[in-house]
Amino acid sequence: MDDPLLLIPGPTPLPPEVLAALSQPMISHRSPAFRDAARNVRERLAHLLQTSGEVVVLPGSGTGALEAAIVNAFSPGDKVVAGVSGAFGDRFLSMARAFGLQAEAVSGTWGRALQPADVAAAVTPDTRGVLLVYSETSTGVLLDLQATAAAVRAKAPDVLILVDAVSALGGAPLPMDAWGIDMVSSGAQKALMAPPGLAIIGVGPRGLAAMQNSRLPRFFWDFRVYIERARAGGINFTPSIALIMALDAALRRAEAEGWDNVFRRHAAVAAQCRAGLRALGFQPLAPEGEASPTVTAVIPPAPLQPAQVIDAMGQRGIEIASSMGQVADRVFRVGHMGYVGEAEVARFLSTLRDAAAQMRGVA
Ligand SMILES: Cc1ncc(COP(=O)(O)O)c(C=O)c1O
Repeated sequence: MDDPLLLIPGPTPLPPEVLAALSQPMISHRSPAFRDAARNVRERLAHLLQTSGEVVVLPGSGTGALEAAIVNAFSPGDKVVAGVSGAFGDRFLSMARAFGLQAEAVSGTWGRALQPADVAAAVTPDTRGVLLVYSETSTGVLLDLQATAAAVRAKAPDVLILVDAVSALGGAPLPMDAWGIDMVSSGAQKALMAPPGLAIIGVGPRGLAAMQNSRLPRFFWDFRVYIERARAGGINFTPSIALIMALDAALRRAEAEGWDNVFRRHAAVAAQCRAGLRALGFQPLAPEGEASPTVTAVIPPAPLQPAQVIDAMGQRGIEIASSMGQVADRVFRVGHMGYVGEAEVARFLSTLRDAAAQMRGVA
């Protein structure tokens, strides 16, 4: 069998320099080497997010990054609107409710992008926040975030816009300040091609102001503490040293490629993947024009079932994933983000062709 190939929607394969960073001897979190890496990571992420605000990187997963944003943005009883057209929109909504926010859903069809006007229509003068998922990983759909934020902002200039960019950051442009996004939550383990375990939160100027006055309880997640300490060149609590060093190496690699080239590569391999799937009789769930550049949810041709395809690919060394919620029985998912290029997608497609032929033969 060929080398195993990890094509789930995160965690993703790691480039050699990231693996090398992970195998270094442990160092002190107060050493100059670590302080440099931590500062580099914050600066590199702020550059990626094109924000004049701050970036906080904490131990945690993507869900932790979402919770951190909520507790730093809001106060009990705040009214928020959440865009829901997949499992992660649903999770963001549930999280807001778990923290006592008055959260209302704008629901759309799973597998389609929410319309900016529909999201804006749910925003009223007393809406404090809008929660959006940029790349809905359960369905492989990319929201038109720029247009949605603009439509929302036109209706409510001071509203806080929080974005789940867990499977988008590093794979699709997200210029926070230009698009008027106030907090962006992500993880290191997807398009950023670093290991799981880091929660990344970009906080724009309006987000920084909100953080000073929000009244939800927070201690470990309190951005004020990290930002104040980081500005003074210090570190508080024990950071995930090895993971930060690995993320620094991954970001350095992406910067050497150039972020615009990285985004173009993601769009190109995603298009290659969708075209190849269609040629084999498989149907991407998302229509062209709404498809995520990092993950594709795929309807197999009858009588093939998603679980059968996942199993057959696994036997051939390629790991792909099931989905969640309403679409769990209809689709499988393939991730094409981070350290993944044309060659990996070509191998996925040729293996799928062989697996499908064999499954049809026995079906
Ligand atoms: C869009 C989105 N949001 C949130 C999460 C949750 O991230 P984690 O599993 O790292 O907590 C994921 C994970 O796949 C995701 O894709």
